[in-house]
Amino acid sequence: MRGIKILGTGVYTPETKITNNDLSEIMETDNEWIVSRTGIESRNYSKNKSNHYMAAEASKAAIENAGLKPEDIDLIIASSCSTEYFYPNLASLIQGCIGAVNAAVVEINTACTGFISALDIASRYLMDGDYKKVLVVASERLAPHVDFGDRASCILFGDGAGAAVIEHSDKPLYSYLSGKADKFEALYCHINKQNNCPYIEDKDETTSLPAFDGENKLEYLQMDGKGVYKFAVDAMTVAVEKTLAKAGLTKEDIDLVIPHQANIRIIQSATKALGIPSEKVFVNIANHANTSSACIPTCLDDLNKEGRIKDGMKICLVGFGAGLTSGAIIFEQ
Ligand code: UT7
Repeated sequence: MRGIKILGTGVYTPETKITNNDLSEIMETDNEWIVSRTGIESRNYSKNKSNHYMAAEASKAAIENAGLKPEDIDLIIASSCSTEYFYPNLASLIQGCIGAVNAAVVEINTACTGFISALDIASRYLMDGDYKKVLVVASERLAPHVDFGDRASCILFGDGAGAAVIEHSDKPLYSYLSGKADKFEALYCHINKQNNCPYIEDKDETTSLPAFDGENKLEYLQMDGKGVYKFAVDAMTVAVEKTLAKAGLTKEDIDLVIPHQANIRIIQSATKALGIPSEKVFVNIANHANTSSACIPTCLDDLNKEGRIKDGMKICLVGFGAGLTSGAIIFEQ
């Protein structure tokens, strides 16, 4: 049986808090618009700490919360769409920072769906039995990648990291993952690196997207907000329905839903379509904003610290992201 038990959680929230009013001083926006359209009141930026520093801090907190030591970790699976190195991979950087000397390392990127993908992979490794204690981390330093000339997208995102230490459980876990690459132009961020190889061109003939010309803003996050919004509501609804069907459960069986924190209206529309009451849906978007794959583990940590993750609970994680990807996991703690 594929299943997981959460042994500990941790989070790192960077120090620089930026309110909506702060943003209104540098662009045409206001607190009322941002709160009513998104539910976001403030976000935090990592002014001068790297993505892997944030990931390592969240990891150390999760390992301590689990009552373990870094050397007890057998495998690190790290999710990020904002890594600062092509290589080494983020999991290796975390391993070095925390001293998890016995761990194998894997990095994945399915953007905001990343923690769900990582947990899904982790559950399969755990079922195999090779690894006993797995650290699943998601960390995002998005502030350098958002375009502060685009008020519709930059207000949405924040930086942060969250982690969970898990082990195998005989209680069941079911998952559903999906990719819709025909919609990838709705949300992307190009690596805008000029090459110095005299034999190749910066121009990319394989995509209809504009080519790098040294001046365009492709290196910043590009988003079709309305397109992503519509996809998100449908994709989250479908992901939960498919996972419930696989599990042979109904929505009434679910104790807690932890959705990707992209926009309060997306969460409300999807959970209303699913018929899940708001009391079962955890939301912390107001003070964190959208930290991509770090949203869900950050919620998990909030709930854990509040003592709200109890043995026997059926928990549903659901999200979507660039790709466009989506997915859900239902597991019993
Ligand atoms: O992890 C996934 C990441 N991405 C997402 O989840 C994005 C999903 N999409 C959304 O959350 C919403 O589409 C947005 C929050 C991005 C936009 O909300 P909306 O209700 O779809 O607004 P809109 O794009 O229809 O814009 C309405 C108006 C426009 O003005 P006009 O043309 O009606 O005069 C925008 O120019 O709001 C204006 N606007 C703003 N006004 C004040 C756009 N951004 C802002 C802003 N402040 N920050």
